[in-house]
Amino acid sequence: MKTKSLYYCTQCGNETPKCAGRCPACGAWNTIVEQPAAKREPAGRVRQGRAAKVYSLSEIDHVEEIRFSTGMRELDRVLGGGGVKGSLVLVGGAPGIGKSTLLLQICDALCAASKVLYVSGEESLGQLKLRARRLQVRGEALYLLSETNVEDILESVDETAPDILMVDSIQTLYQSSLDTPPGSVGQVKGCTLALMDLAKRRGITVFIIGHVNKDGAIAGPKVLEHMVDCVLYFEGDSHNSYRILRAAKNRFGATNEIGVFEMQDEGLAEVENPSQMLLEGRPEGASGTCVACVMEGARPVLAEIQALIAPTGAASPRRTCNGFDYNRAAMLMAVLEKRGGMRLSSCDAFMNIIGGLTLDEPAADLAAVLALASSYVDRPVPGDLVAIGEVGLTGELRAVNHLEQRLSEVQRLGFSKCVIPRRNSGKAPRCGDLELIQANTIGEAVRAVLGKA
Ligand code: TYD
Ligand code: MG
Repeated sequence: MKTKSLYYCTQCGNETPKCAGRCPACGAWNTIVEQPAAKREPAGRVRQGRAAKVYSLSEIDHVEEIRFSTGMRELDRVLGGGGVKGSLVLVGGAPGIGKSTLLLQICDALCAASKVLYVSGEESLGQLKLRARRLQVRGEALYLLSETNVEDILESVDETAPDILMVDSIQTLYQSSLDTPPGSVGQVKGCTLALMDLAKRRGITVFIIGHVNKDGAIAGPKVLEHMVDCVLYFEGDSHNSYRILRAAKNRFGATNEIGVFEMQDEGLAEVENPSQMLLEGRPEGASGTCVACVMEGARPVLAEIQALIAPTGAASPRRTCNGFDYNRAAMLMAVLEKRGGMRLSSCDAFMNIIGGLTLDEPAADLAAVLALASSYVDRPVPGDLVAIGEVGLTGELRAVNHLEQRLSEVQRLGFSKCVIPRRNSGKAPRCGDLELIQANTIGEAVRAVLGKA
C-alpha cells in the first residue's frame, strides 16, 4: 500500500496533506516540510494486537465518581460540585489574568487531604516559593518541580506518586520525540495526550494551564478542548480586579455556572455576592441606566445596563456595545423605533454592561430597552427598580423562566419595584413588599417607568 505523504509546518506544527508555500494555520512562508516516515506514527501509538473487549451496558459495574473539594466554593461550583478524581481540567485565560495564582492558591486546601505536585515551566523554584509565601500557601504535602520536558515530568510523577498534578503551562512543555518548538500545535496536543493518559491510567487528577493569546503565534487551549474532560476559562479585563471563571465544557456537570473572584494583594478572594459587586457605585438620578436580572447557571445575578443616545453628526449613526450582543442591541433599537416611536436611527447609541460581565440572556432585553429609552427621553429610571423580560419583534414582552428565583434576588438586594411581563404574572409569587409592575408590551413598560412621552 502506498503511504500518503504528510507535510507539517516547522513553525506551528500544523499538519497538511499538501505541500504549500504558506502555512494555512499560522500564515508563515516556506515553513512546510515533508514529515519523515519514522515520525509519522507517534511513539507509543503503534498498534499491538487487540486488547479492548466489547461489553454490554449492564455488564459494566457502576462506578461512582469520586469528588473532592478544592477549598474554593466558587471553583467547586464551576467544576460541577468539586473536582473529579482522575479527570483532566484545562484552565485557560489571557496571560496575567491569574491562572497560576488560582491553582497555587487551591494547593493549600488540597494538601490537607492529598499529595500535590505543582510543575512549572514558567517559574523557578525560588519564584514559586516567593509566590506561595505571598499567597500564604503552607502546604506540607505540596511538591514543586521546575521542568519543561514531558518525559522527565512523567518520571517525577512516578517517583512522587501525587494524587493531584498541576502543570503551568502546557505551552512551555515539549516532548523530545517531536522536533517542533514548545507551544506549537503538535507539541501542545502531544503533551496533553501524555498527561491525559496519566490521568486515566493512574487516576491522578490533572490541572493544566493554557494561555490564550490573540495573535495566534502559540497554540491556545482551543485546540485541546475536544481532548480534555473539563475546560474552564478565566476572564476579566486588566482595568478592574474582578475575574469570572466560566466552564466551556464539563464531562461531569453543567457548563452554565460561573465563579466570581477578586484579585487582591494576597491573591484571589471569592466574591459570594456578585450582584452587590456589579451594582457598586451606581449613579443616582441619572438617565440611561437600568438594572437587569440574568441567570448565571442556577444563580440569579443583577447587573447594570447603561445606554447613551446622542444625536449623530454622521450619515450613518454609530452603534457600540460592550458586554451586550451587537445584533441583539440593533434589534432592540429597531423595535424601540418602530413600536415605541423613538427616532433612534438619527442618533449614535452606546451600550455598556458594568463590571465586565457579558449578558447573553434574552431576559435582559427589557432592561436594555428601558436604559435606551431613558437616555432618549432623558428621564431616569427609578433607582430602586429592576426590569426582567424578553422583547419580541412586535414589541411584546415574553415570559421568562426562573422568575421566582430572580425576584427573591431582586428583593434580597433591597430593590422595591420590578417590571415583569404580564404573561409571567400567573406564576409570579408574592414577594413580600416588592411591587410588581406588569406590562404586555415595551410601550406599556416605558410608560409605566418613565411616564408619558
Ligand atoms: P498570574 O497568576 O501570574 O497570571 P497567569 O498565570 O494567568 O499568567 O497573575 C498575574 C497577575 O496577578 C499579576 O499581574 C499580579 C497579580 N497578582 C495580584 O494582584 N496579587 C497576587 O497576590 C498575585 C499572586 C498576583
Ligand atoms: Mg502564570
